[in-house]
Amino acid sequence: MFRLRRYRYYVFFAAIVVFLLYRVAQNSEQWETVSASFPHKAPPSSYKSPPASKSGTDGANSQAQAQSQPPFQGFSSEDDDLPQRILHNFGQDNSPIKVPDLKKVQHTDSLDDFELPPKSDAGVKEAGVLAYDHDEAAKSTTAPVINVPDKNVGQGAKDVDEPLVKSTTTGTHWEKVPEHFPVPKSEIIPLPAGKPKKIPTIQYAFEKESPEARETREARQQQVKAEMERGWAGYWQYARGHDELSPVTKKFRDPFCGWAATLVDSLDTLWIMGMEDEFKEALLEVEKIDFTVSKRAEIPVFETTIRYLGGLLAAYDVSGGKSGGYDILLEKAIELAEILMGVFDTPNRMPVLYYNWKPQYASRPKRAASNAGVAELGSLAMEFTRLAQITKENKYYDAVARITDAFYEWQERGTSISGIFPEHVDATGCNRTAQDELEAAQSAAETEAYDETSVVKRAGKSTLNVKKQKNPKTGKVELIAGESTLPECVSQGLTPGGWGAEQYGMGGSQDSTYEYFPKQWLLLGGLEPKYKELHLKVSEAVKKWLLFRPMVPDERDILFSAKVVTHGEPEIDAKTQYEVTHLTCFIGGMFAMGGKIFEVPADVEIGEKLTEGCVWAYESTATGIMPEGAHVLPCPDAKNCHWNQTLYEQALDPSWEGRGEQIQEYYKRKAEAKAALEKEREEKKEKEKKEKKEKERKEREREEREREESESTQDPAGAASKAGQPKKSSLDEKPSRGSQVGHGNARVQKRAPVSDIEDPEDDPIESGPITGIKKAKSSDAGAEDSEDSYPVPGLEKSTIGQVPLQDDNDIEKDPMRPLSHEEYVANRVENENLPKGFVDVNSKAYILRPEAIESVWYMYRITGNKKWQEKGWKMFEAIVQHTATEIGSSAIDNVLIAKTTQVNEMESFWTAETLKYFYLLYSEPNLISLDNWVLNTEAHPFKRPKAPFGV
Ligand SMILES: *[C@@H]1O[C@H](CO)[C@@H](O)[C@H](O)[C@H]1NC(C)=O
Ligand SMILES: *[C@@H]1O[C@H](CO)[C@@H](O)[C@H](O)[C@H]1NC(C)=O
Repeated sequence: MFRLRRYRYYVFFAAIVVFLLYRVAQNSEQWETVSASFPHKAPPSSYKSPPASKSGTDGANSQAQAQSQPPFQGFSSEDDDLPQRILHNFGQDNSPIKVPDLKKVQHTDSLDDFELPPKSDAGVKEAGVLAYDHDEAAKSTTAPVINVPDKNVGQGAKDVDEPLVKSTTTGTHWEKVPEHFPVPKSEIIPLPAGKPKKIPTIQYAFEKESPEARETREARQQQVKAEMERGWAGYWQYARGHDELSPVTKKFRDPFCGWAATLVDSLDTLWIMGMEDEFKEALLEVEKIDFTVSKRAEIPVFETTIRYLGGLLAAYDVSGGKSGGYDILLEKAIELAEILMGVFDTPNRMPVLYYNWKPQYASRPKRAASNAGVAELGSLAMEFTRLAQITKENKYYDAVARITDAFYEWQERGTSISGIFPEHVDATGCNRTAQDELEAAQSAAETEAYDETSVVKRAGKSTLNVKKQKNPKTGKVELIAGESTLPECVSQGLTPGGWGAEQYGMGGSQDSTYEYFPKQWLLLGGLEPKYKELHLKVSEAVKKWLLFRPMVPDERDILFSAKVVTHGEPEIDAKTQYEVTHLTCFIGGMFAMGGKIFEVPADVEIGEKLTEGCVWAYESTATGIMPEGAHVLPCPDAKNCHWNQTLYEQALDPSWEGRGEQIQEYYKRKAEAKAALEKEREEKKEKEKKEKKEKERKEREREEREREESESTQDPAGAASKAGQPKKSSLDEKPSRGSQVGHGNARVQKRAPVSDIEDPEDDPIESGPITGIKKAKSSDAGAEDSEDSYPVPGLEKSTIGQVPLQDDNDIEKDPMRPLSHEEYVANRVENENLPKGFVDVNSKAYILRPEAIESVWYMYRITGNKKWQEKGWKMFEAIVQHTATEIGSSAIDNVLIAKTTQVNEMESFWTAETLKYFYLLYSEPNLISLDNWVLNTEAHPFKRPKAPFGV
């Protein structure tokens, strides 16, 4: 009975889905052998109100339906580690839809490998198993969900009643346009063929845990799940269908094209946590997403790929893939991927990373950017590869394999820092230097032939959709619109983009390109050796150029990865920024996993130290949470590293050497000014005296003259004394000029920590990923410091022209005196709430990022050391304490003060990544085992191909 019901439901899928799945006879039984030529769009309501499960009670009905449809072709080895339940229930006997040559052996191989559902996990229990039942799925995905009143109606909640209207009736939609630069069929790069290689086991061989350990672990896991449940409920109630919940104000935001980013990003988390009801409800929203339209003019390709495409594919994989039956996930993934494929339509097939999707723009020929972020360029690989594997469509793999080939070629050709790539990449494929030379030559020739050449050349450069062409009748050059042409191009590979110095690091804008090399290698079953080479060279470069041991108070043996800036000759001109950024914290996991799979034990150790670095950064602050971005001091000797307070204070005050002199200079000037004033006063007194005398004298003279007028007498002394009077103007002007300069200096220096911190403009922390949070910064400067507008406030208060009236020797009462080194340091530490060991914290926010717990999780799964669970728990408690809101979790503005402010943002990676990693840290280790899954940079697990005889 149970089997029949399931079977019927499954057949229902077959009956309504309009695409065909063909089994491809392949040499390798280890790869999924489902082939699909999926139409771009399938009817969107395919599974929502399944009539079969509602009304039909007899198998014949279903069978009839099934037989009227094309055969639904069955399983592949991709299903190797399907849940046992699924295998038992229809792995064996779904005759109408089963492929005759399906080999059951494939399944029996791996019965003990399966990981989902997580029935051993506390929260899932029996109910979890039930929830995976497809009949249950059908029940929970019918009408009642839709009828839940939406509290956001009026705020812009959408599609509650008319889910299908939007996509067909309103606005401009993306359309498939003919490619200008198609890859010839014969040149499409296919997925590597063959049996996946044996890859060393990544996970530690965990022993059975004690009952007490289990109890603690499961209790923690439940607390993590509770965070997810609250956040998800908040999202569902206040932001459903939108990108993000505003967790404080209970509103929503749509920064990622308005395609329900949080929802799509969280699907696999819901499944992994055993929240099947929520998962199935969410699928109703997934169905409504229309990727062909967005309020955003440009689709951010990288974010869209890692969050949406990755989210859909992982949800598909974890929920059982083809046999899981949630076909909508694959349909939507394909719908989105088809749109995104447009970005690769460039002459060198490097993608445009901000896709102007409207047909009038999308139809024009285009080139990739001359200033692309290396992370954005290199982090599309896993998602398109996984899609290619699932659909057996090589074109998706081709799209990203060409990018890999370009990086591979570049690494071979050589970058300034051999092995790694600069943050900004010229992906146009055009050598501007060579082009300019060529054009200069051409221009000279053309000037003679055509009078409009210069105009043409300008237009041809700025407008892609323009062609210059010689009109045979008039003999003049004309602009031809609508042609599939671009300005000429002398082709080249990837080169450094932008202008000025090249930056090399593992932080934001660079990170995931490196992260994807070893992960792609895993996803491809070790069959593409380029990824291994790429990774090993990256690893060497990072060790040689970027890793450093910071000087921290308790002398922990930790590592961070710095950023190096060079103008092309790093051996001579490299400048190192000893940064500590949250985004870079993924690197511990990368090193450790790379060390395992490529058998470099030292890299596992490095991964551990890198992870410990981020744990230290968490432990150091008042909130127990690491800031977004900071700088620390490297140890002079990494092997013999001790805390040195003197050195640290000098790092906090780079001008420490000059402070004594400044103070002396200040007093000198002040003394001078005082002397000048005294002198002025003296002279003034003198003058007044003289004037008084003079006056008296004149008075006397006058009186005498009056007297003499009658008596006729004379006084010879008057004229002589007048000539000796000093010039008074210089004294009157500005007797305190000297001290004013001194004050100015003092003030500027005192403010330095607040306004003049070393804060490179190009720092990605500041300019890129979290610009939205920058408002947080204003609150951490002292209020007094930030609001005064006059540079010398002390002077303002005193009368112009006078020396400040303080007693010289009472320095406490002389606010304008330059600070001493000790005072300056104390001042900075206090004003900036600097934790010991930090030289500055240039971005104090925490925006719910996952990278640190991500690496902690990798370390736990790789080493089996329970210390990581303890460290992770402290992090979790700190994060919850400061970020929890009534309906979710919020980014905070300043991790350095206990009373931090929530800034009303909950990015989708909170539920997609951060909570998932926390949950998996306290799950049984076979849930999303790293030996069966590989996670993209948004924590979306993709199924790894099985090695022939197990790992
Ligand atoms: C670009 O062209 C210049 C001048 O022809 C040449 O020297 C340089 O090597 C080229 N760069 C690349 C990356 O091909
Ligand atoms: C600390 O650093 C200062 C400045 O470089 C140096 O003079 C001093 O010897 C160091 N102290 C110790 C204990 O190493």
